[in-house]
Amino acid sequence: MADRYLSFTATAPGRFLTRRLGLPQPAALRRWSPEHPCLPGDLLHLTAGESALGDLAPVLARTGLPLADPAAGPVTGPATSRAASPGNAAVAAVVLDATGVHDVDTLAEVHAALHPVVRSVAASGRIVVLGSPLDSPPDAGSGHHRAAVQQALEGFVRSLGKEIGRGTTVNLLRLTDAAAAESTLRFLLSPKSAYVSGQVITATADGSETPADRSLPLAGRTALVTGGARGIGEAVARTLARDGAHVVVLDVPQAQDDARRLAGQLGGTALALDITAADAGERIAAELPDGLDVLVHNAGITRDRRLVNMPAERWSSVLDVNLGSVLRTTDALLAKGALRRGGRIVATASIAGLAGNAGQTNYGASKAGIAGLVRSLAPRALAEHGVTVNAVAPGFIETRMTAAVPLFIREAGRRMNSLAQGGLPVDVAETTAWLAHPASGAVNGQVVRVCGQSLLGA
Ligand code: NAI
Repeated sequence: MADRYLSFTATAPGRFLTRRLGLPQPAALRRWSPEHPCLPGDLLHLTAGESALGDLAPVLARTGLPLADPAAGPVTGPATSRAASPGNAAVAAVVLDATGVHDVDTLAEVHAALHPVVRSVAASGRIVVLGSPLDSPPDAGSGHHRAAVQQALEGFVRSLGKEIGRGTTVNLLRLTDAAAAESTLRFLLSPKSAYVSGQVITATADGSETPADRSLPLAGRTALVTGGARGIGEAVARTLARDGAHVVVLDVPQAQDDARRLAGQLGGTALALDITAADAGERIAAELPDGLDVLVHNAGITRDRRLVNMPAERWSSVLDVNLGSVLRTTDALLAKGALRRGGRIVATASIAGLAGNAGQTNYGASKAGIAGLVRSLAPRALAEHGVTVNAVAPGFIETRMTAAVPLFIREAGRRMNSLAQGGLPVDVAETTAWLAHPASGAVNGQVVRVCGQSLLGA
């Protein structure tokens, strides 16, 4: 459904009127297209404290963005160099390496580095703060100071995300070495992450592979998307196929016309299967005798009703599609070795599972369960099968599901986030694709919200 308010505020009279009335000012987000694969402009690399990372420069050079002021190199500490001076041209993105922030004084360098440049970040720009993992070994005596100021980065990032406006996103990436950052930085510093803001992502695990062809990272891989015939699942199937995967579009028999049409367009395969079938995992494995590389659990349903009015059938149908079938098929495919080493599981949670929603005790429980599954299974799946397990948690996404929501609730859902607009299915799909890429092996056990930094479930 079209967001007419967004179109209205893009006109001069619309902008004038809504500003005068103090109404939200959503910016038209810059999304990925073959013609515009990169953000336009330079990348500014700043440091607060003494970096705990190795050499970040080669990693940043591979993001596709030219480094601002390469002659001067990265700006260290209080922003004194030419590159960080307020009068400079707009930059597309800023990476602030705050991994070395260990006390309140070094935390002040975060302010000193970003304060002069924040105004010169272009619309639809990106700010990525790099931090250390919170469980890194404490320094003798003052580990709690380090832990305090590293945690402080989360409050900083989320606050800046809420105030910066103009479609700019702000995220925190925790990591132990520069190499672990590459795939995530390439995503966060690209137009593909347009609707991902206010997130804290940890990238420390091992197991990334560099694809032979970076423009087709999933070439030679097979990906299965449950509920792939329409909505977000369709966008995921299209995006994984764009990245080179052979896509299996799984959906219920009633959706087979759509599933077959889509699979035909993508050079993939349609699979008619109700994912709640007790033997769904075995049937998928039988269908894919050579194995599977990417498993996207996207199928999901809602059957809303307040608990007081909710019959057991509404509870169990939602829990079975959204959580029970995810647990069963994951177990079956891992047990059969059907997910090849280097494989990726991406499940679909929801901000409703993180924040809760009136009328959605069943749905909220099922989606919170996905977060629990990811947290518990991820380390074991990586150790035993070489497979990562992550989840995307969409916020308000413009689909048939949200088009059916009553007008006022729909408008509130759209505007109550830092970007003041709903996301598109492709935003969830791009996030899923990043987690599915072979180069994303460092990212494991994460639940990444695709919600424009929704005010719900923050
Ligand atoms: P949708 O209703 O448009 O599509 C869901 C697809 O799953 C349909 O093709 C449907 O046939 C399929 N499906 C349902 N039950 C199935 C089963 N038993 N076996 C196989 N396929 C089945 O939904 P939408 O909006 O695309 O959502 C996709 C996922 O994203 C769901 O898990 C949903 O909970 C989640 N989500 C969506 C949000 C939104 O704003 N649209 C927000 C948060 C999460």
